[in-house]
Amino acid sequence: MYQVIARKYRPQSFAELVSQEHVKTTLDNAINQRRIAHGYIFSGQRGTGKTSVARIMARCLNCLEGPTSTPCNVCASCKEITSGGAVDVIEIDAASNRGINEMRELRESVRYRPARDRYKVFIVDEAHQITNEAFNALLKTLEEPPEWVVFILCTTESHKIPTTIASRCQQFSFRSVDFDELLKRMEWICVQEGITADAEALAVIAHVGEGSVRDSLSALDQAIACCGSTLHAPEVRALLGMFSQDAMNQVTTALLASDSARMLDIVDELERKGANLQHFCRELARHIRNLLVAKISGEETRLIAASPNEKKSMAAVAAQFSEMDLTRYLQVTLDVFKDLQYSLQPRLHLEIGLLKLVHAAKLTSIEEAIAKLGPGSGPSPSASKPPQSRPSPSGASFAAPRVFDDPLAELAAMPPWQATVKATAGNAFVDAPPPKPAVKKTDGDLRSRLYAAALELGLKFTADGFEAAEISESNGVIEIVAPEECEFTMKEQDVNRVVAAMGMTGVRVKVRFSASVVSGPPPAAKLAASDDATGRALANPTVKRFQETFPDSLVRSVRNLKE
Ligand SMILES: Nc1ncnc2c1ncn2[C@@H]1O[C@H](COP(=O)(O)OP(=O)(O)O)[C@@H](O)[C@H]1O
Ligand SMILES: [Mg+2]
Ligand SMILES: [Zn+2]
Repeated sequence: MYQVIARKYRPQSFAELVSQEHVKTTLDNAINQRRIAHGYIFSGQRGTGKTSVARIMARCLNCLEGPTSTPCNVCASCKEITSGGAVDVIEIDAASNRGINEMRELRESVRYRPARDRYKVFIVDEAHQITNEAFNALLKTLEEPPEWVVFILCTTESHKIPTTIASRCQQFSFRSVDFDELLKRMEWICVQEGITADAEALAVIAHVGEGSVRDSLSALDQAIACCGSTLHAPEVRALLGMFSQDAMNQVTTALLASDSARMLDIVDELERKGANLQHFCRELARHIRNLLVAKISGEETRLIAASPNEKKSMAAVAAQFSEMDLTRYLQVTLDVFKDLQYSLQPRLHLEIGLLKLVHAAKLTSIEEAIAKLGPGSGPSPSASKPPQSRPSPSGASFAAPRVFDDPLAELAAMPPWQATVKATAGNAFVDAPPPKPAVKKTDGDLRSRLYAAALELGLKFTADGFEAAEISESNGVIEIVAPEECEFTMKEQDVNRVVAAMGMTGVRVKVRFSASVVSGPPPAAKLAASDDATGRALANPTVKRFQETFPDSLVRSVRNLKE
């Protein structure tokens, strides 16, 4: 009888299992040390070996020569488990037996010792589908399990397993399998089946499965049924609706040439060939992602699922783009892919998408634009830190976005000219005001250090005074001009303590109070602290810091979200 390849080549031992090293090692140790849990959860993408491992595990536990991590596969127990006829290994498909009755039966059955073997092993497939009542019944069993019971719950959606159950089980997550290992397994299967396949054909088939061994093996079946015992990449590709790298390269070539007309032709050709445009877009996204990875990690990388030749040609294409461009293209392509999923007009969406790619290529970065404005217009030296670019072997320089926990910190860390550019996005950069004089910058720095040091010492009022004061430092003298109303709360000795605590020795501190220094935002922005909420909002250090960073900003209104 003909058996599909996926079932015929179900791994019968840990050694045959592809990838999943962490699962193999842990279970192997557990069995050899006789530390068998009563509940296991195998979670992960379909077709990655959950059911197979559950059955191997059952054989490990019940093999006549066991418990052993290398079951003999010839004894009655082993053989029956393989054929699915073992009385003490019960497989339940929760997708069809999800009710309370089945679980009651199960609870009954759990109470009796195994008929012949060492353990009663319950393998529950699609375990996330059982009902709550059934889960409760299962929980009762797991709370006081008879010594001979082992449950193995297999699921693609482990988050749907109640935590009460999960916490009583050992959990293993099955990963999508490694491309190279999958290729090796398929090559081996082809030899067993007397099939000749070129490396690229197998690579295409491995791709189709997207990490699921079962799906790839099903595609292999399909290819053999269609193409016979010799598999060539072009036919296999056509059969599975995959696109060649050449097709993808047409897009990148048009991109390099900024050729919008060519892009429209590409879509037209696809349409006439009856290709699935959404599928094409997904492949394009994958291709651009691979180019980006080749750019960042080099052509030797393990992170691209492709043959060495393909990787090499990808690296060559990637070299013609910047890392930033590729990142942008990837984003655009993913957006188009998302649009296509709901689109009634896939052709139009793909056309727009490819044209957007051409336009995206013409965008320049803020850094480049600023650089073009010439010297005087750049940031002041104190404010311009070199962008943190990740070094990459291919020499790409792309400013990785800096990560700030606090969005205000991000704004504050930006030199003001840049913040303006951001705020007026799209407007001409030339409107950016000249950088502020450097003295103001030290003022802000010193102020925040004083403020922080005062708070550290528990001097809240002094800290508030620093917030509101004009502070400058020159020739070893720190001059602080605070608003008049601080006169009684900001004591000179406290200020001196703060300065000393900052370790600033040899400086002199001068504190003056003046009516001309107004605390809070400039008058135009001054919002009367008419109620409690407004008062608190205006006094909030973050708000103050914001206003300090953007002196021209206005607080227009304060809204209490709790109301
Ligand atoms: N890790 C793996 N190594 C080798 N073959 C695998 C692996 N995972 C899946 N397979 C193949 O796919 C088929 C289905 O696997 P299965 O264990 O039922 O997957 P799952 O239960 O995770 O959906 C197996 O018969 C086997 O041919
Ligand atoms: Mg399964
Ligand atoms: Zn055996």
